[in-house]
Amino acid sequence: MNILFFGPNGSGKGTQGAIVKDKYNAAHIESGAIFRDNIKGGTELGKQAKEYIDKGELVPDEITIPMILDRLKQDDCKVGWLLDGFPRNKNQAIKLDEALKAENMSLDIVVEILLDRQIAKDRIMGRRLCANDNNHPNNIFIDAIKPDGDKCRVCGGDLSKRADDQDEGAIDKRHGIYYDADTGTLAAAYYFKDLAAQGGSIKYITLDGAADIKSVTAELISKL
Ligand code: AP5
Repeated sequence: MNILFFGPNGSGKGTQGAIVKDKYNAAHIESGAIFRDNIKGGTELGKQAKEYIDKGELVPDEITIPMILDRLKQDDCKVGWLLDGFPRNKNQAIKLDEALKAENMSLDIVVEILLDRQIAKDRIMGRRLCANDNNHPNNIFIDAIKPDGDKCRVCGGDLSKRADDQDEGAIDKRHGIYYDADTGTLAAAYYFKDLAAQGGSIKYITLDGAADIKSVTAELISKL
């Protein structure tokens, strides 16, 4: 099964994506995580990406598009993939659609998580990352997933903050890009929604992202 995940930054794409990955054994490809691994490793790609990520801007398409399209050709994607964080603008959506057609690859499901901008912002600012698994849910502002002191509530691992999660101006910029339905991320989502409406094989589903994690997962699984 090949799946695209859309949702405002902080809506739970990573959280739900990790659950779907485990359930369907799909390769979970997170563009943001690929950039962060490269920043951590001090690679040339990481140095270039950091400049944009710190400001809340998109990494340029010339860097991001080939990176993701190459990743989709790797062996682990043959059993299915889940793209989280790509495409993020209309141009990326068009290039992805063209590449899938050229490679004879199907797109089965498109998921759009719906969430109010202020709730998404609060979730980003309270997010804490576990050293053992970034997708272990830990958030200092949400009682149900509050960390155990400064340790991960799932495994006791050390917690850290993402640098781009604490700058309100950069978060507003990221959300401005997401909610832009003309050329931004919602435009990318609606590009596939239109294809689904035209009667293709794509199934387009929406989820109520304001519910708790288990309820969002239950809605997702029931609609897949
Ligand atoms: P990226 O890594 O995608 O970061 P992001 O924009 O912050 O979005 P996330 O995907 O991290 O948030 P999420 O929706 O996964 O939320 P999460 O599950 O953690 O991108 C980083 C940067 O890389 C971008 O700004 C850009 O510069 C660059 N980039 C990436 N892709 C690019 C592309 N295609 N083109 C160009 N540049 C690109 O959840 C958030 C918090 O809420 C967590 O604490 C979680 O535990 C909690 N939570 C989740 N669900 C719930 C729930 N239902 N109830 C309560 N709490 C919840």
